[in-house]
Amino acid sequence: MKHAQKALLDWYEKNGRHDLLWRNTDDIYHIYLSEIMLQQTQVDRVEKEYYPRFLEKFPTLKVLACAPLDDVLAAWSGLGYYTRARNLHKSAQLCQEGMPKSFEELLELPGIGRYTASAVCSFGYNQSIGVVDTNIARVIKRLYALEGISEKIVHQKAEDFLNTQRPREHNLALMDLGAMVCLPQNPKCNLCPLADMCQGKTNPELYTKTKKKEYEALDLFYGVFIEDEKIALVEAKGGMYKGMLELPSVDPIDELFLGSFKHSYTKYRLRVHLYSMQSVSDEVIWIKLDDFDKAPISSLTKKAKQFF
Ligand code: ADE
Repeated sequence: MKHAQKALLDWYEKNGRHDLLWRNTDDIYHIYLSEIMLQQTQVDRVEKEYYPRFLEKFPTLKVLACAPLDDVLAAWSGLGYYTRARNLHKSAQLCQEGMPKSFEELLELPGIGRYTASAVCSFGYNQSIGVVDTNIARVIKRLYALEGISEKIVHQKAEDFLNTQRPREHNLALMDLGAMVCLPQNPKCNLCPLADMCQGKTNPELYTKTKKKEYEALDLFYGVFIEDEKIALVEAKGGMYKGMLELPSVDPIDELFLGSFKHSYTKYRLRVHLYSMQSVSDEVIWIKLDDFDKAPISSLTKKAKQFF
């Protein structure tokens, strides 16, 4: 096993994604933020757009904790899954003395599950703990030919294989191996430093669960009302955009049709239909058209702008 661990680290040294911004900091908040962003968003987009921009606005946990939630949601605009931003803000407020150092305490923070807690412990504190994301799970399953077994056993095997001398690099190496070599389809076994000990390489497809994504079609009807260069928005009280500002919902029957567009969000395939409204309630929030892009609005609401 020592031989395999060393081969893995040698491979990582030559081939790993060492330049990723969050791998070049020991600021635990920055590492935590990267893991939250990377949960549902591609590495490239996080690195080039969202992570540097968010940190420019909220460079420390304290700045984040003191910021209004609306500003945090506005900076999260485009990333989707806005619960992540709300939990991040709540966690910052709970961690005035700094982020906790133990796996168990991290788990108690809102929005932090087993993966994120172990990733922060490993990548941030170099603690000796196995990390299992989708990529690493696939590598471990193939390595030990674990077909149709529970998550618990995968975690156990990841712990067994952990290099306790260099846990941080070991986990990052497994992550990169899964992302670059031990691919779900057509893995590049000829390039794999673990091929010698891999028990799954004769039939690597056995260890890839390909659950087909199921989408739900949904029609949404929104109204546009503009007066004195200001647009009427409302706060979403629940649902997928809770806390964000959005266009008011309308009953399409009474209104003048402006246009439709498509939008994908999580498991939804949305068709969004816009109507010009004749009047609005007193409870709307007026946003200057010039400030529209800076408001806490979703990509969906941003897209609507083409119609007004
Ligand atoms: N490096 C550290 N954590 C990562 C993640 N979740 N995805 C890609 N690279 C990472």
